[in-house]
Amino acid sequence: MAMTSLVLKLCLLSLLLSAIFTTTHSRTTFITTSSPDSTTTSGTSPSVVAAYKYVCDPANFNLRGLDVNDYQFCNTSLPYPVRVKDLVDRMTLAEKALQLGNTALGVPRLGLPPYEWWSEALHGVSNTGPGTRFDDDILPGATSFPTPILTAASFNESLWKNIGQVVSTEARAMFNLGLGGLTYWSPNINIVRDPRWGRALETPGEDPFMVGKYAVNYVRGLQDVEGYIDIHNIY
Ligand SMILES: *[C@@H]1O[C@H](CO)[C@@H](O)[C@H](O)[C@H]1NC(C)=O
Ligand SMILES: *[C@@H]1O[C@H](CO)[C@@H](O)[C@H](O)[C@H]1NC(C)=O
Repeated sequence: MAMTSLVLKLCLLSLLLSAIFTTTHSRTTFITTSSPDSTTTSGTSPSVVAAYKYVCDPANFNLRGLDVNDYQFCNTSLPYPVRVKDLVDRMTLAEKALQLGNTALGVPRLGLPPYEWWSEALHGVSNTGPGTRFDDDILPGATSFPTPILTAASFNESLWKNIGQVVSTEARAMFNLGLGGLTYWSPNINIVRDPRWGRALETPGEDPFMVGKYAVNYVRGLQDVEGYIDIHNIY
């Protein structure tokens, strides 16, 4: 039981808090379609409405008839552990469980909007994941790169990083249009051990060193924000 509870808490911590607390620079904007939480609705034309900019935006709470000042987890003067505890303590077991899949349902009574964690970018942003969709009028598609096993075969580290950067830029643009999320399922760095697995093309191959190099470059391409790079963290 103790282990289950610890695992649950760790999952919640990473799932919820990255959504709430990693919104410190102004680039992050939650933009939605017809209703404040309909980011995953498909088939609607993107009549884009900027309802609120981030979870702890007072506008998000106002929309729900709540006051952000009543929620200490949104108080940026408090240290993260205190904010985390405040949030987790407020949630029922059922509410915690509802956040554990890729389609997190949110907790409207606490101002937590739903979030779809699965947007897909294995070799370019694609609409395979439910968090991403294309729109015939304004955004019919994104750049589709060759599969990872092919780009890996170039043995070109800067190419892997450049692809990550392009994916990141296109993903951000799609998010700003309400057509994509901010979390992408990529890269797949499982080591290929047996061709019968059948998904080797999704990976950089069978060599752990090479896969590590691929992963570092692709992820840095995806995640680094120009001007915000912490050089102590560069591999
Ligand atoms: C936020 O936390 C600080 C530090 O405990 C406290 O002084 C302040 O009153 C809190 N703000 C709100 C809105 O509760
Ligand atoms: C490696 O990729 C970069 C693009 O990131 C390209 O400019 C360069 O020519 C490639 N190097 C080789 C040896 O092909």
